[in-house]
Amino acid sequence: MKITVIGSGYVGLVTGACLADLGFKVVCMDKDEDKIKSLQDGEVPIYEPGLKELLNRNRADGRIRFTHDACEAIEHGDIVFIAVGTPPSEDGSADLGHVLSVASTIGRYLKGFKLVVNKSTVPVGTADKVRAAISHELTHRGMSMDLFDVISNPEFLKEGAAIDDFMRPDRIVVGLDDGPHKARSQRMMGDLYASFNRHHARTVWMDVRSAELTKYAANAMLAARISFMNEIANLADVLDADVDHVRRGIGADSRIGYSFLYAGCGYGGSCFPKDAQALVSAAKAHGHKMAVVSATEWVNERQKTVLVERLVQRVGSNLTGRKIAIWGLAFKPNTDDMREAPSRLVIRQLLELGAQVCAFDPVAGEHAMLALTQDMSPDVSLLKNFSLASTDMLALEGADALMVLTEWKNFHNPDFEAMKSLMRKPYILDGRNLYNPEALSELGIAYQGIGRRNDLAQWLDFADSKDMHPTDHAVDA
Ligand SMILES: NC(=O)c1ccc[n+]([C@@H]2O[C@H](COP(=O)([O-])OP(=O)(O)OC[C@H]3O[C@@H](n4cnc5c(N)ncnc54)[C@H](O)[C@@H]3O)[C@@H](O)[C@H]2O)c1
Repeated sequence: MKITVIGSGYVGLVTGACLADLGFKVVCMDKDEDKIKSLQDGEVPIYEPGLKELLNRNRADGRIRFTHDACEAIEHGDIVFIAVGTPPSEDGSADLGHVLSVASTIGRYLKGFKLVVNKSTVPVGTADKVRAAISHELTHRGMSMDLFDVISNPEFLKEGAAIDDFMRPDRIVVGLDDGPHKARSQRMMGDLYASFNRHHARTVWMDVRSAELTKYAANAMLAARISFMNEIANLADVLDADVDHVRRGIGADSRIGYSFLYAGCGYGGSCFPKDAQALVSAAKAHGHKMAVVSATEWVNERQKTVLVERLVQRVGSNLTGRKIAIWGLAFKPNTDDMREAPSRLVIRQLLELGAQVCAFDPVAGEHAMLALTQDMSPDVSLLKNFSLASTDMLALEGADALMVLTEWKNFHNPDFEAMKSLMRKPYILDGRNLYNPEALSELGIAYQGIGRRNDLAQWLDFADSKDMHPTDHAVDA
């Protein structure tokens, strides 16, 4: 069985690389010529651990190749995956422009039977639209309507651990509808994923509409857990409790579990925000309200502003002459993806308040610069106060505060004494709850996490004339 993957981004490349590694002959296609050229040259335009090695090994062994030619790509595969983006439209609904454009292209070039598999995250009913777009082209060409089937196989990988997620899936969701090709499509998908079902059956078979909804439900549920914990964390701050103890206390309950219970400065990425909005919008189009999902997004947007609010409470709202260091720009560790990253809003707020911002991220610096330029366009003058440091420590030089926005492993155990000597003020606003509040207090570092007893940072005085140390300080905390 030969495989075509249309759309060579995070999902398309991981799907292509992993299926090639399982022995299938794969062609990855993209409309972006530069991307295809760099893939052909052995470069990988995105950062995903292990992906470059996997692609290059399978390319060298002749199991995967890359093309910009849609006709060649569609001719190749028995199975044609659609893995293009579904970005949010202005009203929050999923923009299906790329998906339907690919569907039309498939209809234009299809000759023999193709199993068209939707891997992009798409609203319920999209498979019908894909079917219609392909049929439209076939009618135009005077060809039989019987040459294809459209099914759903949503992707659940996490950026940063995408290869492992694809190769060791918790489950594989496949949605098929009754029709003349159902048995053939089911057999083909069964063969495709046989390696993952050897130990026990991981494929969950269902109808197409349920599969489409499953993907949104999964992302909305995970996002809701994060927003829930952020609300608990904000309450913990008010009540002088520690959310990390609460997290352990509730995570130990097997009905709840530990995953996605970390409080922080908000979720980002290409999936949670856009998929939550798309779900709300799809429900609205059918006269329904998604109260929990709407609140999840609302809480998240608010949560992205918490660190700057805290800084302003301590330092005042005029940050002119202040330097703020940022550790972490990508929306999560082990990726260079800046889509909806909380750092974008945080940096914009800091610059608007007059701060100088110096940031370090192990891989996302270049992407961050592009994203920030896009955010601030057409007036990018604020960016003159933004710079990228080549190391985490260099970002700290002369800083009045450090904000930790991404939990890269490199940031887990820094040299706090060195940090203190580099910073003008030893003040850490930890948006990912990486550090121990008591330990930092003992080191003379003012620390504020998310829901971590933030009174611990109250002693730090920002009036420049009278620097205080916790030991000088008796009553203020
Ligand atoms: N990134 C994730 O973690 C993740 C996880 C699960 C599901 N998804 C879903 O998978 C889909 C793809 O996401 P992604 O992150 O890989 O997006 P991406 O933006 O990284 O990649 C999409 C690619 O599709 C290409 N493309 C667009 N239109 C095309 C066309 N007409 N023909 C050929 N190529 C075309 C783009 O050039 C781009 O390279 C989305 O629906 C997303 O919601 C993403």
